[in-house]
Amino acid sequence: MTSVSSALPTNAAPTGRLIFRHSAVVRVCHWINAICFVFLLMSGMQIFNADPALTWGQKTNFDKPSFSLTAREDDNGDPTAGLTTIFGHSFDTTGLLGASRDENGDLDARGFPSWATLPADQDLAMGRRWHFFFAWILVLNGLVYVAYLIGRRHIRDLWPSLADLKALPRSIADHARLRFPKGQEALHYNVLQKLAYLSVVIAFPILILAGLTMSPAIDSAFPWLLTLFGGRQAARALHFLLAIYLVLFVIVHLVMVVLSGPINNMRSMITGRYRIKEQR
Ligand code: HEM
Repeated sequence: MTSVSSALPTNAAPTGRLIFRHSAVVRVCHWINAICFVFLLMSGMQIFNADPALTWGQKTNFDKPSFSLTAREDDNGDPTAGLTTIFGHSFDTTGLLGASRDENGDLDARGFPSWATLPADQDLAMGRRWHFFFAWILVLNGLVYVAYLIGRRHIRDLWPSLADLKALPRSIADHARLRFPKGQEALHYNVLQKLAYLSVVIAFPILILAGLTMSPAIDSAFPWLLTLFGGRQAARALHFLLAIYLVLFVIVHLVMVVLSGPINNMRSMITGRYRIKEQR
Protein backbone atom coordinates (compact mmCIF):
# COMPACT_ATOMS: atom_id res chain seq x y z
CA MET A 1 0.00 0.00 0.00
CA THR A 2 1.42 3.38 -0.90
CA SER A 3 0.89 4.73 2.49
CA VAL A 4 -2.71 5.54 1.62
CA SER A 5 -2.86 7.12 5.04
CA SER A 6 -0.27 9.72 4.08
CA ALA A 7 -1.47 10.07 0.48
CA LEU A 8 -5.01 10.86 1.54
CA PRO A 9 -6.04 12.60 4.75
CA THR A 10 -8.92 10.68 6.38
CA ASN A 11 -11.24 13.70 6.51
CA ALA A 12 -10.88 14.17 2.76
CA ALA A 13 -11.44 10.55 1.73
CA PRO A 14 -13.47 10.40 -1.45
CA THR A 15 -15.98 7.56 -1.32
CA GLY A 16 -17.15 5.85 -4.51
CA ARG A 17 -14.00 7.13 -6.21
CA LEU A 18 -10.74 5.60 -7.27
CA ILE A 19 -7.81 6.17 -4.96
CA PHE A 20 -4.17 5.15 -5.33
CA ARG A 21 -3.63 2.13 -3.04
CA HIS A 22 -0.47 0.21 -3.99
CA SER A 23 2.84 1.61 -5.24
CA ALA A 24 4.58 0.08 -8.26
CA VAL A 25 7.27 -1.43 -6.00
CA VAL A 26 4.68 -3.25 -3.84
CA ARG A 27 2.74 -4.45 -6.90
CA VAL A 28 5.79 -5.73 -8.80
CA CYS A 29 7.26 -7.36 -5.67
CA HIS A 30 3.88 -8.94 -4.86
CA TRP A 31 3.48 -10.61 -8.25
CA ILE A 32 7.11 -11.76 -8.46
CA ASN A 33 6.63 -13.21 -4.98
CA ALA A 34 3.37 -14.95 -5.98
CA ILE A 35 5.04 -16.54 -9.06
CA CYS A 36 8.10 -17.63 -7.05
CA PHE A 37 5.81 -19.07 -4.38
CA VAL A 38 4.07 -21.41 -6.85
CA PHE A 39 7.38 -22.68 -8.32
CA LEU A 40 9.00 -23.03 -4.89
CA LEU A 41 6.03 -24.92 -3.50
CA MET A 42 5.87 -27.38 -6.39
CA SER A 43 9.62 -27.97 -6.57
CA GLY A 44 9.73 -28.12 -2.74
CA MET A 45 7.22 -30.98 -2.78
CA GLN A 46 9.38 -32.74 -5.40
CA ILE A 47 12.43 -32.45 -3.08
CA PHE A 48 10.39 -33.56 -0.05
CA ASN A 49 9.28 -36.68 -1.96
CA ALA A 50 12.91 -37.90 -2.04
CA ASP A 51 12.57 -38.50 1.73
CA PRO A 52 8.96 -37.86 2.71
CA ALA A 53 9.49 -37.83 6.46
CA LEU A 54 10.40 -35.22 9.07
CA THR A 55 12.15 -35.56 12.40
CA TRP A 56 12.49 -32.88 15.01
CA GLY A 57 16.05 -32.72 16.38
CA GLN A 58 19.69 -33.07 15.46
CA LYS A 59 19.47 -36.27 13.44
CA THR A 60 16.98 -38.31 11.42
CA ASN A 61 15.04 -40.96 13.29
CA PHE A 62 14.22 -43.30 10.40
CA ASP A 63 12.13 -45.64 12.59
CA LYS A 64 9.97 -43.00 14.24
CA PRO A 65 9.68 -39.79 12.22
CA SER A 66 7.37 -37.05 13.61
CA PHE A 67 5.66 -36.82 10.24
CA SER A 68 5.71 -39.06 7.19
CA LEU A 69 3.93 -39.79 3.93
CA THR A 70 4.25 -43.51 3.21
CA ALA A 71 2.55 -46.31 1.30
CA ARG A 72 1.13 -49.56 2.67
CA GLU A 73 2.22 -52.44 0.43
CA ASP A 74 0.85 -55.92 -0.33
CA ASP A 75 2.96 -59.11 -0.30
CA ASN A 76 4.28 -58.32 -3.81
CA GLY A 77 5.49 -54.90 -2.69
CA ASP A 78 2.75 -53.07 -4.64
CA PRO A 79 1.26 -50.04 -2.89
CA THR A 80 -2.33 -50.55 -1.66
CA ALA A 81 -2.87 -47.36 0.35
CA GLY A 82 -1.31 -43.97 1.15
CA LEU A 83 -0.71 -43.10 4.80
CA THR A 84 -0.04 -39.75 6.46
CA THR A 85 1.47 -40.30 9.90
CA ILE A 86 1.68 -37.48 12.45
CA PHE A 87 3.30 -38.29 15.81
CA GLY A 88 2.44 -41.99 15.46
CA HIS A 89 -1.19 -41.46 14.34
CA SER A 90 -1.82 -42.67 10.79
CA PHE A 91 -4.53 -41.42 8.46
CA ASP A 92 -5.59 -42.97 5.16
CA THR A 93 -4.79 -40.39 2.46
CA THR A 94 -4.80 -42.73 -0.54
CA GLY A 95 -4.91 -40.89 -3.87
CA LEU A 96 -3.39 -37.69 -2.45
CA LEU A 97 -0.60 -38.27 0.08
CA GLY A 98 1.63 -41.35 0.44
CA ALA A 99 0.26 -43.12 -2.65
CA SER A 100 -1.42 -41.60 -5.71
CA ARG A 101 -2.42 -42.73 -9.19
CA ASP A 102 -0.03 -42.41 -12.16
CA GLU A 103 -1.08 -41.67 -15.76
CA ASN A 104 -2.07 -45.36 -16.21
CA GLY A 105 -4.32 -45.26 -13.15
CA ASP A 106 -1.94 -47.43 -11.09
CA LEU A 107 -1.28 -46.59 -7.46
CA ASP A 108 2.30 -45.27 -7.00
CA ALA A 109 4.15 -44.84 -3.71
CA ARG A 110 4.84 -41.05 -3.65
CA GLY A 111 4.77 -38.44 -0.89
CA PHE A 112 2.96 -35.73 -2.86
CA PRO A 113 1.13 -36.63 -6.11
CA SER A 114 2.82 -36.01 -9.50
CA TRP A 115 0.37 -33.24 -10.51
CA ALA A 116 1.55 -31.18 -7.53
CA THR A 117 5.32 -31.52 -8.02
CA LEU A 118 7.84 -29.90 -10.35
CA PRO A 119 8.88 -31.81 -12.36
CA ALA A 120 5.99 -34.29 -12.27
CA ASP A 121 8.20 -37.43 -12.36
CA GLN A 122 10.44 -38.14 -9.39
CA ASP A 123 13.64 -36.20 -10.23
CA LEU A 124 15.37 -34.77 -7.18
CA ALA A 125 18.20 -33.06 -9.10
CA MET A 126 15.80 -31.19 -11.38
CA GLY A 127 13.53 -30.29 -8.46
CA ARG A 128 16.51 -28.76 -6.64
CA ARG A 129 17.44 -26.69 -9.72
CA TRP A 130 13.94 -25.22 -9.96
CA HIS A 131 13.85 -24.65 -6.20
CA PHE A 132 17.19 -22.85 -5.92
CA PHE A 133 16.59 -20.74 -9.04
CA PHE A 134 13.30 -19.35 -7.70
CA ALA A 135 14.64 -19.18 -4.13
CA TRP A 136 17.32 -16.69 -5.21
CA ILE A 137 14.78 -14.62 -7.17
CA LEU A 138 12.60 -14.64 -4.04
CA VAL A 139 15.55 -13.48 -1.91
CA LEU A 140 16.44 -10.61 -4.28
CA ASN A 141 12.77 -9.61 -4.56
CA GLY A 142 12.44 -9.81 -0.78
CA LEU A 143 15.44 -7.50 -0.31
CA VAL A 144 13.85 -4.88 -2.60
CA TYR A 145 10.55 -5.19 -0.69
CA VAL A 146 12.23 -4.90 2.73
CA ALA A 147 14.20 -1.84 1.53
CA TYR A 148 10.86 -0.31 0.50
CA LEU A 149 9.17 -1.36 3.77
CA ILE A 150 11.81 0.50 5.75
CA GLY A 151 12.90 3.25 3.32
CA ARG A 152 9.38 4.42 2.37
CA ARG A 153 7.91 3.47 5.77
CA HIS A 154 5.46 1.03 4.17
CA ILE A 155 5.89 -1.00 7.37
CA ARG A 156 3.57 1.56 9.03
CA ASP A 157 0.75 0.34 6.75
CA LEU A 158 1.24 -3.22 8.00
CA TRP A 159 2.00 -2.56 11.69
CA PRO A 160 -1.21 -2.77 13.80
CA SER A 161 -1.74 0.09 16.29
CA LEU A 162 -3.12 -0.43 19.79
CA ALA A 163 -6.51 0.82 18.57
CA ASP A 164 -6.34 -1.77 15.75
CA LEU A 165 -5.66 -4.56 18.24
CA LYS A 166 -8.55 -3.43 20.45
CA ALA A 167 -10.82 -3.61 17.39
CA LEU A 168 -9.67 -7.18 16.65
CA PRO A 169 -12.77 -8.99 18.07
CA ARG A 170 -15.10 -6.66 16.11
CA SER A 171 -13.05 -7.16 12.94
CA ILE A 172 -13.21 -10.96 13.34
CA ALA A 173 -17.01 -10.77 13.87
CA ASP A 174 -17.40 -8.49 10.81
CA HIS A 175 -15.32 -10.83 8.64
CA ALA A 176 -17.34 -13.84 9.85
CA ARG A 177 -20.49 -12.03 8.68
CA LEU A 178 -18.73 -11.10 5.42
CA ARG A 179 -19.00 -7.39 6.25
CA PHE A 180 -15.93 -5.69 4.85
CA PRO A 181 -14.75 -2.12 5.60
CA LYS A 182 -16.25 0.66 3.48
CA GLY A 183 -15.73 4.42 3.24
CA GLN A 184 -12.94 5.87 5.44
CA GLU A 185 -12.18 2.48 7.01
CA ALA A 186 -11.38 0.95 3.62
CA LEU A 187 -8.52 3.42 3.12
CA HIS A 188 -6.23 1.29 5.27
CA TYR A 189 -5.67 -2.40 5.68
CA ASN A 190 -7.92 -3.72 8.46
CA VAL A 191 -6.32 -5.26 11.54
CA LEU A 192 -6.72 -8.85 10.27
CA GLN A 193 -5.02 -7.94 7.00
CA LYS A 194 -2.22 -6.16 8.88
CA LEU A 195 -1.61 -9.17 11.14
CA ALA A 196 -1.78 -11.63 8.24
CA TYR A 197 0.54 -9.64 5.96
CA LEU A 198 2.97 -8.91 8.79
CA SER A 199 3.10 -12.62 9.65
CA VAL A 200 4.03 -13.34 6.02
CA VAL A 201 6.72 -10.65 6.06
CA ILE A 202 8.17 -12.31 9.21
CA ALA A 203 7.68 -15.92 8.03
CA PHE A 204 9.57 -15.56 4.74
CA PRO A 205 13.01 -14.64 6.17
CA ILE A 206 12.78 -17.46 8.77
CA LEU A 207 11.78 -19.91 6.03
CA ILE A 208 14.71 -18.77 3.87
CA LEU A 209 17.20 -19.02 6.77
CA ALA A 210 15.88 -22.50 7.64
CA GLY A 211 16.33 -23.44 3.97
CA LEU A 212 19.92 -22.18 3.96
CA THR A 213 20.61 -24.18 7.15
CA MET A 214 19.92 -27.38 5.19
CA SER A 215 22.98 -26.66 3.02
CA PRO A 216 26.22 -28.19 4.42
CA ALA A 217 28.27 -25.51 2.58
CA ILE A 218 26.31 -22.68 4.23
CA ASP A 219 26.57 -24.43 7.61
CA SER A 220 30.35 -24.61 7.40
CA ALA A 221 30.46 -20.85 6.69
CA PHE A 222 27.80 -19.93 9.29
CA PRO A 223 27.75 -22.74 11.91
CA TRP A 224 25.59 -20.59 14.22
CA LEU A 225 22.66 -21.38 11.92
CA LEU A 226 22.68 -24.99 13.17
CA THR A 227 22.63 -23.74 16.77
CA LEU A 228 19.85 -21.27 15.95
CA PHE A 229 17.54 -23.91 14.48
CA GLY A 230 18.63 -26.86 16.64
CA GLY A 231 20.10 -28.93 13.82
CA ARG A 232 19.53 -29.58 10.14
CA GLN A 233 16.51 -31.87 10.67
CA ALA A 234 14.77 -29.28 12.83
CA ALA A 235 15.50 -26.65 10.16
CA ARG A 236 13.93 -28.95 7.55
CA ALA A 237 10.84 -29.49 9.73
CA LEU A 238 10.48 -25.74 10.36
CA HIS A 239 10.97 -24.98 6.65
CA PHE A 240 8.14 -27.43 5.90
CA LEU A 241 5.81 -26.07 8.64
CA LEU A 242 6.30 -22.47 7.48
CA ALA A 243 5.58 -23.53 3.89
CA ILE A 244 2.32 -25.09 5.12
CA TYR A 245 1.52 -21.87 7.01
CA LEU A 246 2.05 -19.86 3.80
CA VAL A 247 -0.17 -22.26 1.83
CA LEU A 248 -2.94 -21.76 4.41
CA PHE A 249 -2.37 -17.99 4.28
CA VAL A 250 -2.65 -17.98 0.48
CA ILE A 251 -5.90 -20.02 0.57
CA VAL A 252 -7.50 -17.58 3.07
CA HIS A 253 -5.95 -14.60 1.19
CA LEU A 254 -7.51 -15.69 -2.11
CA VAL A 255 -10.90 -16.41 -0.52
CA MET A 256 -10.86 -12.91 1.06
CA VAL A 257 -9.81 -11.28 -2.24
CA VAL A 258 -12.79 -12.95 -3.94
CA LEU A 259 -15.33 -12.27 -1.16
CA SER A 260 -14.38 -8.60 -0.65
CA GLY A 261 -14.56 -7.60 -4.33
CA PRO A 262 -12.29 -9.51 -6.73
CA ILE A 263 -12.27 -6.91 -9.53
CA ASN A 264 -11.56 -3.97 -7.23
CA ASN A 265 -8.87 -5.92 -5.36
CA MET A 266 -7.19 -7.25 -8.49
CA ARG A 267 -7.25 -3.82 -10.15
CA SER A 268 -5.59 -2.36 -7.06
CA MET A 269 -2.78 -4.95 -7.13
CA ILE A 270 -2.30 -4.55 -10.91
CA THR A 271 -2.78 -0.82 -11.57
CA GLY A 272 -2.66 0.57 -8.04
CA ARG A 273 -6.19 2.05 -8.28
CA TYR A 274 -8.81 1.00 -5.72
CA ARG A 275 -12.47 2.02 -5.52
CA ILE A 276 -13.67 3.13 -2.10
CA LYS A 277 -17.26 2.04 -1.56
CA GLU A 278 -19.83 4.42 -0.03
CA GLN A 279 -20.40 4.05 3.71
CA ARG A 280 -24.09 3.30 4.36
C1 HEM B 1 -2.81 -15.37 -7.48
C2 HEM B 1 -2.47 -15.17 -6.22
C3 HEM B 1 -2.67 -13.88 -5.45
C4 HEM B 1 -3.61 -12.90 -5.59
C5 HEM B 1 -4.76 -12.83 -6.59
C6 HEM B 1 -3.34 -11.89 -4.59
C7 HEM B 1 -4.02 -10.71 -4.42
C8 HEM B 1 -3.70 -9.68 -3.55
C9 HEM B 1 -4.37 -8.42 -3.43
C10 HEM B 1 -5.57 -8.00 -4.29
C11 HEM B 1 -3.78 -7.71 -2.45
C12 HEM B 1 -4.17 -6.31 -1.96
C13 HEM B 1 -5.22 -6.42 -0.88
C14 HEM B 1 -5.81 -5.05 -0.52
O1 HEM B 1 -5.44 -4.05 -1.12
O2 HEM B 1 -6.65 -5.00 0.38
C15 HEM B 1 -2.68 -8.50 -1.93
C16 HEM B 1 -1.78 -8.12 -0.96
C17 HEM B 1 -0.81 -8.93 -0.42
N1 HEM B 1 -0.56 -10.25 -0.76
FE1 HEM B 1 -1.42 -11.26 -2.29
N2 HEM B 1 -2.25 -12.30 -3.85
C18 HEM B 1 -1.83 -13.51 -4.34
C19 HEM B 1 -0.77 -14.28 -3.89
C20 HEM B 1 -0.02 -13.97 -2.77
C21 HEM B 1 1.02 -14.80 -2.23
C22 HEM B 1 1.45 -16.17 -2.82
C23 HEM B 1 1.51 -14.17 -1.14
C24 HEM B 1 2.60 -14.61 -0.20
C25 HEM B 1 2.84 -15.85 0.10
C26 HEM B 1 0.79 -12.91 -1.00
C27 HEM B 1 1.02 -11.98 -0.02
C28 HEM B 1 0.46 -10.72 0.03
C29 HEM B 1 0.89 -9.67 0.93
C30 HEM B 1 2.01 -9.79 1.98
C31 HEM B 1 0.12 -8.55 0.63
C32 HEM B 1 0.27 -7.14 1.26
C33 HEM B 1 1.31 -6.40 0.38
C34 HEM B 1 1.73 -5.07 0.92
O3 HEM B 1 0.90 -4.19 1.13
O4 HEM B 1 2.95 -4.88 1.12
N3 HEM B 1 -0.12 -12.83 -2.00
N4 HEM B 1 -2.66 -9.72 -2.61
